[in-house]
Amino acid sequence: MANKIGCNLMLALLALLVVGCDAAIVTRRGFALLVVVGCDAAIVTRRDFVGGGAAAAAASRPTAASAAVDARAPLLARGGLAVPRVGFGLYKTKPEETAAAVALALEAGVRHFDAAAAYGNEAALGEALRGGPKCFVATKVAPSRGARDAVKAAADRLGFAPDCVYVHSPLAPRAERLAAYEQLLDARRDGLCGAVGVANFGVRHLGELPEPPALVQLELSPYNQRRAEAAWATKNGAVVTCAAWSKLSGAYNWGSDAAFKALNACCKAHAATKAQVLVRWAVQRGFAPLPRSTAADAAQRLAIAQNAAAGVEDGDFWRGGPLSRAEMKALDALEDHLASGKLGRTDGWTADDVAGPGWDPTTYVDG
Ligand SMILES: NC(=O)c1ccc[n+]([C@@H]2O[C@H](COP(=O)([O-])OP(=O)(O)OC[C@H]3O[C@@H](n4cnc5c(N)ncnc54)[C@H](OP(=O)(O)O)[C@@H]3O)[C@@H](O)[C@H]2O)c1
Repeated sequence: MANKIGCNLMLALLALLVVGCDAAIVTRRGFALLVVVGCDAAIVTRRDFVGGGAAAAAASRPTAASAAVDARAPLLARGGLAVPRVGFGLYKTKPEETAAAVALALEAGVRHFDAAAAYGNEAALGEALRGGPKCFVATKVAPSRGARDAVKAAADRLGFAPDCVYVHSPLAPRAERLAAYEQLLDARRDGLCGAVGVANFGVRHLGELPEPPALVQLELSPYNQRRAEAAWATKNGAVVTCAAWSKLSGAYNWGSDAAFKALNACCKAHAATKAQVLVRWAVQRGFAPLPRSTAADAAQRLAIAQNAAAGVEDGDFWRGGPLSRAEMKALDALEDHLASGKLGRTDGWTADDVAGPGWDPTTYVDG
């Protein structure tokens, strides 16, 4: 009998390990109560952490071990391609600021960098990574017939063959878009890049591809969850990376009561910033977020470390274990189909950046 009970216990433990997410939620529930009761941190912003303060004090309390997802374990794409879960985006990072931002991201444990030919900082990124740890580096090229040459040029600027090259958008006539994709497949065969991805493609564009990409990059956040595209990616073995389109900054100035309430509750429970909660949501959804921050002032430098830590583990910048099932549900409920450029205006997006109220690359129909 004792053997049978022991055996059942072992089986239960094994089941909890296999469904790691549920197991962690079970262990977290008790702890969440402690955190909520014990946490006197009001809403934490990245600025609160600069120089300490009440929020920092709250953040240094003891914590429970947690692992709803092992954020250190890479996501696996088609063909066994390993993609580190928490990346770092380089959109709008000036070449002269790239070295500092990348050094901080590396120090924070980031091993996935997201660039693009259009960002103008590939050479600086390559230089910043030289001699450092092995990283997963992705870049993007325009959807044109010159895509193969563009990959070669990107590799030259970086100083190495990128691990992934995305077609940057579907915004080109169908024939051109498909020619670009075919050329990226050729480039991969010739060793000019490790894998091929697509960015901003809707289900219709994805369905046209001769073979599925290894990575699908989407504007994706609780406010705009791209469920159809994400489901297509999962079904086809592609890793989804989240291009936030400045949702991290938008979380601070967007006025929905529901969003503020849901985010604030998570912030309190985890002594975390809103940006961190958004990063963590993506990680627990099984996506690879690509938060970005510049490194010009102390708050921004700290944001790089905080954003990375939210995806990785409990520590100085994230407390209380993973987001619980209830917290995830509350964040999931924020879906508002807030398409590109509709939120994070503090990062420079204006009405002129989009071609009209219905503008959204995933719904683009050519011809
Ligand atoms: N494929 C595409 O077409 C596409 C489109 C958009 C983005 N992307 C990729 O996705 C990455 C992320 O997108 P993104 O750069 O637009 O958006 P993001 O990471 O959501 O936002 C960056 C903005 O949020 C602010 N921010 C970052 N961390 C913060 C924190 N902890 N607290 C408060 N504010 C914070 C930054 O401010 P500071 O600058 O002041 O630090 C910046 O204004 C890009 O860098 C790029 O690699 C791809």
